Amino acid sequence: MALIGMMGSGKSTVGFWLARSEGLRFVDLDAAIEERQDRSISEIFDADGEGRFRDIEQEVLDQCLKSSEPLVVSCGGGIVLRPENRARLRDRAWVCWLRANIETLGHRVRFGDSRPLLGDDPIADLTAISAARSEFYTETAHGIVDVDGLEAEQVAEQIRRVWPRPVSTP
Ligand code: S3P
Repeated sequence: MALIGMMGSGKSTVGFWLARSEGLRFVDLDAAIEERQDRSISEIFDADGEGRFRDIEQEVLDQCLKSSEPLVVSCGGGIVLRPENRARLRDRAWVCWLRANIETLGHRVRFGDSRPLLGDDPIADLTAISAARSEFYTETAHGIVDVDGLEAEQVAEQIRRVWPRPVSTP
């Protein structure tokens, strides 16, 4: 299963809870990238630019999607930018879009780690990015959960309700 959605939509926290409750391995794609590169996302953006970050992101996603072990994967918000990623996610995973309004996102990113795509006016940036990506999230997702006003565990519960469990999963 893969979780997609804007930065601040809660993918990492929800993915962690979901994996734990389902007894599945959890992969946070941003954390996997940082571990593999031994540097932070911001450092990758600063030193090598967004294009290089997207290349690494695509490689790590491909590895996850080839895994024979069932995983819960939390993707970075921009995973849907590349058509190859959208197609592979749709083909090889069950994809859930954690959809949030701008107020929710703005509130959450304020308390989060540094995000290289957000500048001095994060609400304006989130609004523009969300508008530009919305069609890609729609195209990629098999299921949608609206997360506004919900705690991470409640979101995980909503996902469990719409997730068509693989037959082999106990
Ligand atoms: C990005 C979102 C971030 C991270 C990078 C780019 C984006 O992940 O991958 O800063 O393009 O939306 P989160 O969605 O986990 O914050």
